[in-house]
Amino acid sequence: MSGVAFIVGFGKGVGSAVAAKFKSEGFAVAVASRSLVPGEVEKEHGYLGVKLDASQSDQVAAGFARVEKAIGPANVVVYNASAFASAPGGKADPLSLSGEDFLQGVSVGGIGAYYVAQHANGGFTRLENTSHPLPPRVFIATGNALPWVQPPLPHLLGVSTGKKALANIVESCATAYADTGKRFYYAYEVSPQGGLVRSPDPSTHAKVFWGLYNLKEQGDWAVKFTKE
Ligand SMILES: NC(=O)c1ccc[n+]([C@@H]2O[C@H](COP(=O)([O-])OP(=O)(O)OC[C@H]3O[C@@H](n4cnc5c(N)ncnc54)[C@H](OP(=O)(O)O)[C@@H]3O)[C@@H](O)[C@H]2O)c1
Repeated sequence: MSGVAFIVGFGKGVGSAVAAKFKSEGFAVAVASRSLVPGEVEKEHGYLGVKLDASQSDQVAAGFARVEKAIGPANVVVYNASAFASAPGGKADPLSLSGEDFLQGVSVGGIGAYYVAQHANGGFTRLENTSHPLPPRVFIATGNALPWVQPPLPHLLGVSTGKKALANIVESCATAYADTGKRFYYAYEVSPQGGLVRSPDPSTHAKVFWGLYNLKEQGDWAVKFTKE
Protein backbone atom coordinates (compact mmCIF):
# COMPACT_ATOMS: atom_id res chain seq x y z
CA MET A 1 0.00 0.00 0.00
CA SER A 2 1.17 3.52 -0.82
CA GLY A 3 -0.54 5.16 2.12
CA VAL A 4 -3.90 6.04 3.62
CA ALA A 5 -6.25 8.64 2.12
CA PHE A 6 -9.26 10.00 4.02
CA ILE A 7 -11.85 12.03 2.09
CA VAL A 8 -14.31 14.00 4.22
CA GLY A 9 -17.33 15.12 2.18
CA PHE A 10 -17.72 12.05 -0.01
CA GLY A 11 -20.41 12.23 -2.68
CA LYS A 12 -20.86 11.50 -6.36
CA GLY A 13 -18.68 14.41 -7.50
CA VAL A 14 -15.19 15.40 -6.39
CA GLY A 15 -15.05 12.95 -3.46
CA SER A 16 -15.74 9.92 -5.66
CA ALA A 17 -13.17 10.91 -8.28
CA VAL A 18 -10.47 11.68 -5.71
CA ALA A 19 -11.14 8.47 -3.76
CA ALA A 20 -10.97 6.41 -6.96
CA LYS A 21 -7.71 8.07 -8.01
CA PHE A 22 -5.96 7.39 -4.70
CA LYS A 23 -7.28 3.82 -4.62
CA SER A 24 -5.99 3.24 -8.15
CA GLU A 25 -2.57 4.42 -6.92
CA GLY A 26 -2.56 1.75 -4.21
CA PHE A 27 -3.87 3.71 -1.23
CA ALA A 28 -6.18 2.37 1.44
CA VAL A 29 -9.11 4.80 1.24
CA ALA A 30 -11.58 5.96 3.88
CA VAL A 31 -14.50 8.23 3.04
CA ALA A 32 -16.96 10.18 5.18
CA SER A 33 -20.28 11.95 4.85
CA ARG A 34 -23.43 12.33 6.89
CA SER A 35 -25.54 9.92 4.87
CA LEU A 36 -23.25 7.24 3.47
CA VAL A 37 -23.88 3.63 4.41
CA PRO A 38 -20.54 2.11 5.46
CA GLY A 39 -21.39 -1.39 4.27
CA GLU A 40 -22.38 -0.08 0.85
CA VAL A 41 -19.22 1.93 0.15
CA GLU A 42 -17.15 -1.00 1.30
CA LYS A 43 -19.00 -3.43 -0.93
CA GLU A 44 -19.16 -1.13 -3.96
CA HIS A 45 -15.70 0.45 -3.81
CA GLY A 46 -13.63 -1.24 -1.12
CA TYR A 47 -13.47 1.97 0.95
CA LEU A 48 -13.80 2.24 4.70
CA GLY A 49 -16.99 4.24 5.17
CA VAL A 50 -17.44 6.60 8.12
CA LYS A 51 -20.69 8.35 8.89
CA LEU A 52 -20.04 11.79 10.35
CA ASP A 53 -21.07 15.41 10.29
CA ALA A 54 -17.87 17.41 9.77
CA SER A 55 -19.27 20.39 11.65
CA GLN A 56 -19.47 18.34 14.87
CA SER A 57 -16.10 18.07 16.62
CA ASP A 58 -16.95 14.88 18.53
CA GLN A 59 -18.01 13.13 15.32
CA VAL A 60 -14.84 14.20 13.54
CA ALA A 61 -12.72 12.92 16.45
CA ALA A 62 -14.55 9.58 16.46
CA GLY A 63 -14.26 9.30 12.66
CA PHE A 64 -10.50 9.84 12.66
CA ALA A 65 -10.11 7.35 15.52
CA ARG A 66 -12.07 4.75 13.56
CA VAL A 67 -9.95 5.25 10.43
CA GLU A 68 -6.69 5.12 12.36
CA LYS A 69 -7.68 1.96 14.19
CA ALA A 70 -8.82 0.21 11.00
CA ILE A 71 -6.22 1.26 8.42
CA GLY A 72 -3.76 3.57 10.18
CA PRO A 73 -3.31 7.36 10.28
CA ALA A 74 -4.18 9.06 7.00
CA ASN A 75 -1.20 10.69 5.28
CA VAL A 76 -3.48 12.49 2.84
CA VAL A 77 -6.69 14.12 4.03
CA VAL A 78 -9.14 15.84 1.69
CA TYR A 79 -11.78 18.26 2.95
CA ASN A 80 -14.59 18.48 0.39
CA ALA A 81 -17.69 19.23 2.49
CA SER A 82 -19.56 22.50 2.12
CA ALA A 83 -23.05 23.92 2.55
CA PHE A 84 -24.51 26.09 -0.18
CA ALA A 85 -27.39 28.51 0.32
CA SER A 86 -28.28 31.67 -1.55
CA ALA A 87 -29.98 34.62 0.17
CA PRO A 88 -33.63 34.71 -0.94
CA GLY A 89 -33.40 38.50 -1.33
CA GLY A 90 -30.52 38.17 -3.79
CA LYS A 91 -27.44 40.36 -4.12
CA ALA A 92 -29.24 43.43 -2.78
CA ASP A 93 -30.16 41.74 0.52
CA PRO A 94 -27.48 39.38 1.88
CA LEU A 95 -29.01 39.58 5.35
CA SER A 96 -32.13 37.83 4.08
CA LEU A 97 -30.15 34.59 4.39
CA SER A 98 -31.53 32.77 7.42
CA GLY A 99 -29.27 32.59 10.46
CA GLU A 100 -29.40 28.82 10.17
CA ASP A 101 -28.21 28.84 6.55
CA PHE A 102 -25.46 31.32 7.38
CA LEU A 103 -24.32 29.14 10.29
CA GLN A 104 -24.29 26.04 8.08
CA GLY A 105 -22.18 27.81 5.47
CA VAL A 106 -19.63 28.81 8.06
CA SER A 107 -19.67 25.66 10.17
CA VAL A 108 -19.49 23.15 7.31
CA GLY A 109 -17.36 25.31 5.03
CA GLY A 110 -14.85 26.52 7.60
CA ILE A 111 -15.20 25.21 11.15
CA GLY A 112 -15.49 21.58 10.07
CA ALA A 113 -12.30 22.00 8.08
CA TYR A 114 -10.57 23.22 11.23
CA TYR A 115 -11.59 20.07 13.14
CA VAL A 116 -10.52 17.87 10.24
CA ALA A 117 -7.19 19.68 9.80
CA GLN A 118 -6.52 19.31 13.55
CA HIS A 119 -7.02 15.56 13.44
CA ALA A 120 -5.17 15.23 10.16
CA ASN A 121 -2.23 17.04 11.75
CA GLY A 122 -2.31 14.71 14.77
CA GLY A 123 -2.07 11.71 12.46
CA PHE A 124 0.73 13.35 10.45
CA THR A 125 2.72 13.79 13.66
CA ARG A 126 2.15 10.19 14.72
CA LEU A 127 3.38 9.03 11.32
CA GLU A 128 6.68 10.84 11.96
CA ASN A 129 7.27 8.52 14.90
CA THR A 130 6.05 5.30 13.34
CA SER A 131 6.58 5.37 9.60
CA HIS A 132 9.93 4.82 7.88
CA PRO A 133 10.33 6.07 5.25
CA LEU A 134 8.00 8.94 6.05
CA PRO A 135 5.28 9.34 3.37
CA PRO A 136 4.11 12.77 2.16
CA ARG A 137 1.64 14.28 4.64
CA VAL A 138 -0.85 16.47 2.84
CA PHE A 139 -4.15 18.22 3.61
CA ILE A 140 -6.13 19.42 0.58
CA ALA A 141 -9.36 21.42 0.78
CA THR A 142 -11.74 21.87 -2.13
CA GLY A 143 -12.23 25.59 -2.46
CA ASN A 144 -13.76 28.03 -4.87
CA ALA A 145 -12.90 31.54 -6.01
CA LEU A 146 -15.14 33.28 -3.43
CA PRO A 147 -12.30 34.49 -1.17
CA TRP A 148 -11.02 36.56 -4.09
CA VAL A 149 -14.03 37.32 -6.31
CA GLN A 150 -14.47 41.06 -6.94
CA PRO A 151 -16.99 42.55 -6.65
CA PRO A 152 -18.15 40.14 -3.90
CA LEU A 153 -21.31 38.05 -4.29
CA PRO A 154 -23.35 39.20 -1.28
CA HIS A 155 -26.15 36.64 -1.77
CA LEU A 156 -23.59 33.89 -1.10
CA LEU A 157 -22.52 35.32 2.25
CA GLY A 158 -22.73 32.00 4.12
CA VAL A 159 -20.65 29.95 1.72
CA SER A 160 -18.20 32.81 1.06
CA THR A 161 -17.61 33.35 4.78
CA GLY A 162 -17.03 29.59 5.09
CA LYS A 163 -14.58 29.50 2.19
CA LYS A 164 -12.73 32.60 3.45
CA ALA A 165 -12.33 30.87 6.82
CA LEU A 166 -11.16 27.74 5.02
CA ALA A 167 -8.59 29.72 3.03
CA ASN A 168 -7.37 31.38 6.23
CA ILE A 169 -7.01 28.01 7.99
CA VAL A 170 -5.06 26.56 5.07
CA GLU A 171 -2.80 29.60 4.68
CA SER A 172 -2.03 29.66 8.42
CA CYS A 173 -1.22 25.95 8.51
CA ALA A 174 0.85 26.02 5.32
CA THR A 175 2.90 28.84 6.85
CA ALA A 176 3.22 27.48 10.38
CA TYR A 177 4.03 23.87 9.52
CA ALA A 178 6.26 24.62 6.53
CA ASP A 179 9.39 23.41 8.32
CA THR A 180 7.84 20.11 9.34
CA GLY A 181 7.17 18.84 5.84
CA LYS A 182 3.41 18.79 6.40
CA ARG A 183 1.65 20.50 3.47
CA PHE A 184 -1.69 22.29 3.21
CA TYR A 185 -3.58 23.40 0.08
CA TYR A 186 -6.74 25.29 -0.85
CA ALA A 187 -7.36 24.02 -4.40
CA TYR A 188 -10.05 25.67 -6.46
CA GLU A 189 -11.43 25.36 -9.95
CA VAL A 190 -12.27 28.57 -11.77
CA SER A 191 -14.20 29.26 -14.94
CA PRO A 192 -12.22 30.42 -18.00
CA GLN A 193 -13.10 33.96 -16.83
CA GLY A 194 -11.65 33.27 -13.36
CA GLY A 195 -14.93 33.05 -11.44
CA LEU A 196 -17.06 30.35 -9.88
CA VAL A 197 -18.07 27.25 -11.81
CA ARG A 198 -21.59 25.84 -11.61
CA SER A 199 -20.37 22.42 -10.58
CA PRO A 200 -16.77 21.35 -10.05
CA ASP A 201 -15.23 18.94 -12.54
CA PRO A 202 -14.44 15.74 -10.60
CA SER A 203 -11.77 14.28 -12.85
CA THR A 204 -9.79 17.54 -13.03
CA HIS A 205 -9.93 17.77 -9.22
CA ALA A 206 -8.64 14.21 -8.90
CA LYS A 207 -5.77 14.98 -11.26
CA VAL A 208 -4.86 18.24 -9.52
CA PHE A 209 -5.07 16.71 -6.02
CA TRP A 210 -2.85 13.81 -7.10
CA GLY A 211 -0.35 16.30 -8.49
CA LEU A 212 -0.35 18.26 -5.23
CA TYR A 213 0.20 15.10 -3.24
CA ASN A 214 3.28 14.38 -5.33
CA LEU A 215 4.92 17.79 -4.99
CA LYS A 216 8.24 17.70 -3.18
CA GLU A 217 7.74 21.05 -1.44
CA GLN A 218 4.79 23.11 -0.23
CA GLY A 219 4.76 25.76 -2.97
CA ASP A 220 1.68 28.01 -3.07
CA TRP A 221 -1.07 27.13 -0.60
CA ALA A 222 -3.76 28.51 -2.92
CA VAL A 223 -3.93 26.51 -6.14
CA LYS A 224 -6.15 27.74 -8.95
CA PHE A 225 -7.00 25.58 -11.95
CA THR A 226 -9.47 25.27 -14.83
CA LYS A 227 -11.32 22.23 -16.12
CA GLU A 228 -9.23 20.05 -18.42
N1 LIG B 1 -14.88 25.82 -7.81
C1 LIG B 1 -16.14 26.20 -7.73
O1 LIG B 1 -16.56 27.25 -8.23
C2 LIG B 1 -17.11 25.29 -7.01
C3 LIG B 1 -18.45 25.21 -7.42
C4 LIG B 1 -19.30 24.36 -6.73
C5 LIG B 1 -18.82 23.61 -5.67
N2 LIG B 1 -17.51 23.71 -5.29
C6 LIG B 1 -17.00 22.94 -4.15
O2 LIG B 1 -16.98 21.56 -4.51
C7 LIG B 1 -17.16 20.77 -3.33
C8 LIG B 1 -18.32 19.79 -3.50
O3 LIG B 1 -18.44 19.33 -4.81
P1 LIG B 1 -18.86 17.81 -5.13
O4 LIG B 1 -19.09 17.72 -6.58
O5 LIG B 1 -17.88 16.87 -4.52
O6 LIG B 1 -20.25 17.69 -4.34
P2 LIG B 1 -20.96 16.38 -3.82
O7 LIG B 1 -20.81 15.26 -4.80
O8 LIG B 1 -22.35 16.82 -3.44
O9 LIG B 1 -20.16 15.94 -2.52
C9 LIG B 1 -20.11 16.67 -1.34
C10 LIG B 1 -20.46 15.74 -0.20
O10 LIG B 1 -20.20 16.40 1.03
C11 LIG B 1 -21.02 15.78 1.99
N3 LIG B 1 -21.26 16.70 3.09
C12 LIG B 1 -21.97 17.86 3.09
N4 LIG B 1 -22.02 18.38 4.31
C13 LIG B 1 -21.31 17.55 5.11
C14 LIG B 1 -21.00 17.54 6.49
N5 LIG B 1 -21.47 18.49 7.32
N6 LIG B 1 -20.25 16.54 6.98
C15 LIG B 1 -19.81 15.55 6.16
N7 LIG B 1 -20.06 15.49 4.86
C16 LIG B 1 -20.82 16.49 4.33
C17 LIG B 1 -22.35 15.46 1.27
O11 LIG B 1 -22.87 14.20 1.72
P3 LIG B 1 -23.95 14.17 2.92
O12 LIG B 1 -25.05 15.11 2.54
O13 LIG B 1 -24.35 12.74 2.97
O14 LIG B 1 -23.22 14.59 4.15
C18 LIG B 1 -21.94 15.35 -0.19
O15 LIG B 1 -22.14 14.07 -0.72
C19 LIG B 1 -17.45 21.75 -2.21
O16 LIG B 1 -16.28 21.97 -1.45
C20 LIG B 1 -17.90 22.99 -2.94
O17 LIG B 1 -17.73 24.18 -2.19
C21 LIG B 1 -16.65 24.52 -5.94
